[in-house]
Amino acid sequence: MAMAKRLDGKVAIITGGASGIGASTVHLFHEHGAKVVIADVQDNLGQAIADKLGKNVSYIHCDVTNEDDICNLIDTTVAKHGQLDIMYNNAGIVDNPSPVGRILDTKKSDLERTISVNLVGSFLGAKHAARVMIPQRKGCILFTSSAASAIAGISSHAYAASKWAIVGVAKGLAAELGQYGIRVNCVSPFGVLGTGMTLPMSEEDMYKAEFALSNLVGNLKGQVLKAEDVARAALYLASDEANYISGLNLLVDGGYSVVNPNMENILSASMG
Ligand SMILES: NC(=O)c1ccc[n+]([C@@H]2O[C@H](COP(=O)([O-])OP(=O)(O)OC[C@H]3O[C@@H](n4cnc5c(N)ncnc54)[C@H](O)[C@@H]3O)[C@@H](O)[C@H]2O)c1
Repeated sequence: MAMAKRLDGKVAIITGGASGIGASTVHLFHEHGAKVVIADVQDNLGQAIADKLGKNVSYIHCDVTNEDDICNLIDTTVAKHGQLDIMYNNAGIVDNPSPVGRILDTKKSDLERTISVNLVGSFLGAKHAARVMIPQRKGCILFTSSAASAIAGISSHAYAASKWAIVGVAKGLAAELGQYGIRVNCVSPFGVLGTGMTLPMSEEDMYKAEFALSNLVGNLKGQVLKAEDVARAALYLASDEANYISGLNLLVDGGYSVVNPNMENILSASMG
């Protein structure tokens, strides 16, 4: 049986679409009938995905911190496809590869760079998408935030600040743009291994990290979160199935951010 296409006829931009969660979302949106524009700074990777997927997927070089690049991205997309239905602001960086950067080790420049890509880049993407979505009187704006927007101590301060701020922008935009029928939501993943952000890692370290996430840290035991799982959450929010969902921060974390396992662990250890 042919798969039902959930984004037929829609035009989507995905920033950070050349790698990881973004690349996985490009593939899934394409499978579901969307015309997809990949926006990234990794030109070779982005162009290769576009070449592989054919005429409905294209690549545009766009540094999300550069407002001229964002304008060009939005305007080129609308000139080519006549509309913009989905703007997925997903590009992001981590300032510190270790999970928790101490404040005394955090340089002002690390904070500024992380805020610049993750927050300012997402804000500019949303702003220029809104510029074309408001007259269309429809559209969907998505952001990739993080489980670090819902629970403390799992990322650097700069990263957490940038991801909390994205949720704030998304909720504010949901309020402002509701009158035009534009929906605004966030997807907030737990740790996804094997994306550009978590590489390079040796096979052995990857195995250890996978074991730790799936058996020690994560709430859903024995499972790891994959980029495709996050892409499916984005697909839902982008599709008409979510046509009354706006202002949501959809945690894709297996319940991690609402569970504190300490009590259970200590009680079960002491009771045998
Ligand atoms: N991997 C995880 O564990 C995880 C968890 C929670 C949230 N996230 C978020 O998911 C999003 C995607 O990350 P990923 O894990 O797929 O990593 P990734 O590194 O594979 O993908 C990020 C992409 O963004 C692009 N990018 C970076 N700076 C850019 C800029 N200035 N302009 C345009 N593109 C730029 C990169 O080139 C890359 O292709 C990020 O926002 C990240 O913060 C990741």
